[in-house]
Amino acid sequence: MIRVCFVCLGNICRSPTAEAVFRQIVDKAHLSDQIVVDSAGTGSYHIGEQADSRARAMGQRRGYRLVGRARQFGHRDFEGFDYVLAMDQDNLRALRKLAHDESTQAKIRLLRSFDSTAEPGAEVPDPYYGGPGGFDEVIDICERACRGLLEHISSERGLG
Ligand code: 4NP
Repeated sequence: MIRVCFVCLGNICRSPTAEAVFRQIVDKAHLSDQIVVDSAGTGSYHIGEQADSRARAMGQRRGYRLVGRARQFGHRDFEGFDYVLAMDQDNLRALRKLAHDESTQAKIRLLRSFDSTAEPGAEVPDPYYGGPGGFDEVIDICERACRGLLEHISSERGLG
C-alpha cells in the first residue's frame, strides 16, 4: 500500500479538501486498492471537528465529499505515510521540525510542487478568513496539484 497524507493547519479546510479531491482521482484511476489517502493538521485548535461547513458545501457543489474529523499530525504519523504533502510554508516548516531523520524529511513536500502552473514554493492559500471564492480556488488548486501528485507517485512506484 502507498499511503498519502495531506497536512494543513486546522485540518478543517484545505487538507480535507485535498484528501477528497485526491481520493476521487485515485478512484477514477482504479488505484484505490493501492493508495490510501488521509489528512491531518499541524495545529490542535480544531481536533475532533468536522470539516468547515463552507469547505463541505463547496466540495459538495463540485462533487466531493469531505469526510472525517480533524486530528493533529504527530511525529509518529510519519511511520504510517510514504508521502506527506504540506499545504503552505508554515505547515512545511512545522512538519520538518517533527521529522527527525533524513528518510522522514524526504517524505515531506509542498503539495503545489506538483501543480504544473505554480511557481516554486507556491502555497495553497488559507481560505479560513475569506469568502466562498477562496474555497472554490482551493479546489481548483487541489485538482491540478493532485493530478500532478498521482503522476509523480505512479512513475515513482511504477503504477498503471
Ligand atoms: P486549514 O484552515 O488549515 O486549511 O484547515 C484553517 C482552519 C482554522 C484556522 C486557520 C486555518 N484557525 O485559525 O482556526
